[in-house]
Amino acid sequence: MNAGTDNILDRVGILGAMDAEISQFLEHAETLERTEWRGFVFHRLRLRGREVILVKCGVGKVFSALVSQHLIDAYLPSALLFTGVAGALNPAYAIGDVVVSRDCLQHDVDGRALGFARGNLLYTDMKIFAAESSLLASALSARADGHKIHAGRILTGDQFMTRDEINQHRYLREEMQGDAVEMEGGAMAQVCAVNGLPFLVIRTISDRADGDAVHDFNRFLPVVARNSLAIVDHILSA
Ligand code: ADE
Repeated sequence: MNAGTDNILDRVGILGAMDAEISQFLEHAETLERTEWRGFVFHRLRLRGREVILVKCGVGKVFSALVSQHLIDAYLPSALLFTGVAGALNPAYAIGDVVVSRDCLQHDVDGRALGFARGNLLYTDMKIFAAESSLLASALSARADGHKIHAGRILTGDQFMTRDEINQHRYLREEMQGDAVEMEGGAMAQVCAVNGLPFLVIRTISDRADGDAVHDFNRFLPVVARNSLAIVDHILSA
């Protein structure tokens, strides 16, 4: 099931979309090796006494899937984590809170014209990707600097959501019951499902996917990404 290891924490792969989402890890870990592949830099690190492979994959589903698959093939990880920020759809979530994926769904997959439910990958039975339960439980028992940690449904698509998009996409909350929206987690989850690998997505809320989303996103990105480090640190310390 895991590619070559017995313990789910033996060699965790960690992806982030942007520098601000991975820089904290580099500052807090010992670097063992740095390897480049197709312009992506894979950092083999020791963090909390465990081997970790950290990589910035860039923004969006294709980059996330591409880098996830290469990480799996080249490093045989025991699990993959995605860490970074997300926009809140759930009104109970505050900026700075952390949402960990109970499950993930790709909100921009739409084969309804062919009779598939929205989010259902066409001609497959894949739609909702459940995170690994022990990783989820471990993340929920962490602390995030006075902020709440929620288990939620993370929606993924290749769109940055602001008020206009949300008004046109009421199904994100009403039909798909999404709690947060981002641009990579669901793609990594799909790759993990195909490879039979456990995963968890950890996202700090940077904005409310509303009229202030762009401003909040830019303002809070460097600050709130720290909370994700605290969660990963906690998981690795288990
Ligand atoms: N990541 C952080 N905020 C986001 C938003 N509003 N839409 C999509 N991805 C995001």
